[in-house]
Amino acid sequence: MRKLIAGMKVSVDGKMEGPEQVADWVEAWSEDYGLTPQIDACLLGGGMYSGYEQYWTGIQNEPDKSAWITGSAPTPAEREWARFIGQTPHYVLSRTVTSSLWPNTSFVRSIEQVAALKQQPGKDIYLVGGARTTASLIDAGLVDELRLIVYPLIAGEAKALFATTERRRGLELRKVQQLQNGRVSLIYGSKGAR
Ligand SMILES: NC(=O)c1ccc[n+]([C@@H]2O[C@H](COP(=O)([O-])OP(=O)(O)OC[C@H]3O[C@@H](n4cnc5c(N)ncnc54)[C@H](OP(=O)(O)O)[C@@H]3O)[C@@H](O)[C@H]2O)c1
Repeated sequence: MRKLIAGMKVSVDGKMEGPEQVADWVEAWSEDYGLTPQIDACLLGGGMYSGYEQYWTGIQNEPDKSAWITGSAPTPAEREWARFIGQTPHYVLSRTVTSSLWPNTSFVRSIEQVAALKQQPGKDIYLVGGARTTASLIDAGLVDELRLIVYPLIAGEAKALFATTERRRGLELRKVQQLQNGRVSLIYGSKGAR
């Protein structure tokens, strides 16, 4: 069965975005979890999808121009990710969002449809976010692995990644790696994922 793997960039106090609804401590939104070779689909929540589409469409269309959110020129890794996702199926978990600009985007309406997606043949699926979607899919036992990049910052007043999590769940630490600029990569396996 395909694995569903969540990747999130968080502060030390577990925040995934600031009061302006942006994690302004993140300098680039490339896929920095080492997942690209093993995935062939992305899953996102309805809350973040339009911003994600807007950000990456901008980089696909104008790869040399400062990107919205970071305010900087896209990094080589961001350009590479923009190319990769242009050819990769995207699934949006939402009961209300019905349209997308990208032809490779389709919709899943329930947890059961996410479970069915995992049963389809293919490579693993990258759960891009956001917070409520990640929390609800972990609660449902559908997330096999959680990859966090922890930034050296206490974000304070900001939105917590696990603010809406309802159930306790044990995790198994699989890998720890120190990254540049004081960041730490943590990979956890989720015990009891289905
Ligand atoms: N720090 C990071 O690495 C990182 C990564 C990605 C995103 N983000 C941030 O995440 C923010 C968005 O997070 P968010 O929590 O506001 O929204 P979200 O998780 O992207 O989307 C929440 C929506 O997803 C749908 N959904 C979630 N669980 C569902 C379920 N079990 N069944 C059916 N639908 C479900 C619902 O859509 P409907 O209401 O339409 O039904 C819900 O309103 C963005 O602003 C972005 O900045 C941060």
